[in-house]
Order: sequence, then structure tokens, then C-alpha cells
Amino acid sequence: MRFHVEPATRPLSGTVTIPGDKSIGHRALLFSLLSGTPMRVLGLGDGADNGRSAKAVTALGGRIEKDGPAFVIHGTGLDGMTAPAQRIDCGNSGTTIRLLCGLLAGQRFQATLFGDESLSKRPMRRVMEPLLQMGATITGQRQGAGADATPPLVIGPATAPLRAIDYALPMASAQVKTAVLLAGLYADGATTTTEPGPSRDHSERMLAYLGAPLTVKGRSTTIDTRGWDRRLAGQGFEVPADPSSSAFLIAAALLAGADEVRLPNICTNPTRTGFLDAIAAMGGTVTLEDERHAGPEPVATLVVRGLVHDFRGTEIAGDLAVRSIDELPILAVIAARATGTTFVRDAEELRVKESDRIATTCAMLRSFGVACEVHSDGFTVEGRPDRPLDPGHVDADGDHRIAMAGAVAGLVASGETIIDDADNVATSYPGFAAALTQLGATIRVV
Ligand code: S3P
Repeated sequence: MRFHVEPATRPLSGTVTIPGDKSIGHRALLFSLLSGTPMRVLGLGDGADNGRSAKAVTALGGRIEKDGPAFVIHGTGLDGMTAPAQRIDCGNSGTTIRLLCGLLAGQRFQATLFGDESLSKRPMRRVMEPLLQMGATITGQRQGAGADATPPLVIGPATAPLRAIDYALPMASAQVKTAVLLAGLYADGATTTTEPGPSRDHSERMLAYLGAPLTVKGRSTTIDTRGWDRRLAGQGFEVPADPSSSAFLIAAALLAGADEVRLPNICTNPTRTGFLDAIAAMGGTVTLEDERHAGPEPVATLVVRGLVHDFRGTEIAGDLAVRSIDELPILAVIAARATGTTFVRDAEELRVKESDRIATTCAMLRSFGVACEVHSDGFTVEGRPDRPLDPGHVDADGDHRIAMAGAVAGLVASGETIIDDADNVATSYPGFAAALTQLGATIRVV
């Protein structure tokens, strides 16, 4: 699939409903499988990645029913999961495969997890290592001496309860943290994760909501199963709209100008809003209205009005880099229109996302004539605010966020931009091109 994007000729305007948050959607599905009560999930996104987690739920003995706008998930409870009849296909979804590792580590059956070409290259040692320490049986593929382990992964069967561990994560990773905490539900005693940075905390909020024996102290989270009745239960989850998907439309509105662009019901969990802080530091204004809570998550309507003429370069590093990790490609596009240099540091995790996002973000910017320097843990962007970007021809390398970031850059280029290999936009935001069109942009999908 290819996007053809025309430069924007007038300010964007309108209200767009963004699909449900991908991270929360995975958890709503997979945690509902552990529930002893039927769970009603409202607002689940339509991306293919969440679809992979839904299929995994049914492969493991859960049942999913559509009920009007909601999905009702009939879980198996903690101890009722059944062996899958086939290998579980996790597609492009790192969250599906890594969370399943945690969920399956303590089961009395064996399961095999695999994925597409991109997922088959992604590092899995980070989840395998703590789970092996807990006594799980898990093997992956090794592509050469010293190389990381990659899918397919074979997990289980567990022959005894897992061992509770105290695990210091080498990187801030919500997927690794969640895998260990889920396995901790199947361990005797207290399993603790400690992270070097503030990765997203949806698992902590949602597991606590279901009654898991979970406590959080600073960057440490503990599941202590001693004296617990092994029951998780609740009414259901309301999945707020995805801030990571919203970031592309926010950037489009800020760069092309907006009469008024409104994005209702966006998750404003502080572990996800680093991009709003970075935009503010660069001189952009995004207003939060109608703030409320959707279950354990805060939400708000994000509003952009007017046109920013003077973005300035900034530094995105440390905790801010963790809190905006999935938004760094689109922040790089704003940096391309800013006065001065933007430095992105402490973001080596970008190397192991759906593509090597340090390389693909810089290649994307360069195709618009923007100077971008690659570093081991990030990149540097030299902004060019005084004239439109050159029309770009971007190879998205199968990465949904590179494709969407490139499309937004095309709105402020001097001619038609082409984005190749954009199919995987469907993993997180199938309606992206339609949403941009709704706001008044011209984007063709071929
Ligand atoms: C996710 C966690 C992050 C993020 C990914 C989704 C999650 O990855 O980049 O898009 O839902 O837990 P890491 O856990 O590798 O940091």
C-alpha cells in the first residue's frame, strides 16, 4: 500500500474519533482471559495488533462475543486456560508475543508463538531471561553467536509453580515488566520488577482494578500471591482513545494549521503524554478539555487551534524519551519545521521497534531534504522553518509509525509526497488516511 499526500492548502478542521488505545486494548483482552467473570470491553481499537491478542484469547480457551458496541470476553480464570490447537500467530505485535510469554510461563501445557518478518527479528531475550529465572521453560531461535533470541518461541509446560523473583529490568519496558508480573501471578510469594524509567503503567492500573495482589512503590511493582484467593474479576474495561495515534493528527494540525481540531476521549496517562510535553517545549499549544476518568485511566479531549509559526528545537532525553518513545518519529517531523536543532537521546530502544526507528526516522526526514544525524541512542534534527520541506519519497520499511509520520510531513512539503510500504498502518490505525481526509487534507491510498 502506498500513500500519495498533497501539501495542505488550508487549515485542518473537525472532530475525529481516534480508535482505542493499542496498549490498553491488548491488556483488556489478555487480562480478561484471566478473569473469572465475563468482562465487557468498550472502545477496543480496530487495529490488526489487538486482533492478534483477541485470537490468542480464543486459542487459549476464552470466548469473545460482540454485544452492540462492546466485546464481552468470557475468560477461563487463572487456572482454566487450555492448550492451543495450533501455533499462535502474533503477526506484527510485540506486545502480544511478550505479554503471552508471561501469561503462558506458568501453564501446564506447551505453546508456540510466532510472528511476521519484522516480529521474527525482534529481541526476546529480555522476556526470556526473567522468566527462565522464575523456572519457566522457554526457547527461542538464535541467529548466530552472541545474537539475541528471536521468535518462534516455545513455552512450557511448567511442571511446578514458578519461583518469585526480584527483577531489575535492564531497560524501561512495559512489555517486559508486564510479562514478569503476569508470570508472578503463577509464582509462590512476592515477584518484584524495578525499572530504570517510567514505562507505561497500564498493567499496574488494570491488574489492580481486577483485584490482583499488586502494589507499586516508585519504580517497583510487586505481585505477592501469599494469602491470595487466585481470583481476578471485574465488570469490564472502557478503552480510551490512543494517544500515540492522536499524536499524528495533533502534529498535522499544528504544522498545517487548524481552525479547530478536536480529538475526544484520549488517554492522558502521564506515562503516555511525553509527546505533549515535548510539543509544549517546542512552542506548540495543545489544550486539554473535558478531563475525566475512564476506569483506571485519565482521559481528555485534545484540542488544537491556530497555526504555530515559531517552533523551536528542544532536547528529548531521559524520562521524557521513555514517555514519548512511540511518538519520537512524529516529534522528529515537528523538529524538522523548528528553528534550531532537536536532540533525541537515551532512546536506544528505538533500534528494536517495528523497524530500527533511529535509522528509519532519519531516512524519512532526509527524503524531505531535512538534515538528520544518526547516533547510537537517538538522532539530531536540523530544523528548516523558513521554507517548505522537499516533496518526500519515503520507504516506510513496513513500520506503521514511520508511514504516518511521513504522511504528516507531506502536508508541509512543496509538492506531492509518496509513502511506500504503508500497509502496516493497519496494525494500529487502519482509519488514519480517512481521518486526515476528514480534517481536510488530501491523501490517496493506492
Ligand atoms: C508497549 C510498550 C512499549 C511500546 C509499545 C507498546 C506496551 O514497548 O513501545 O509500542 O503496550 O506495553 P516496550 O515495552 O518495549 O518499551
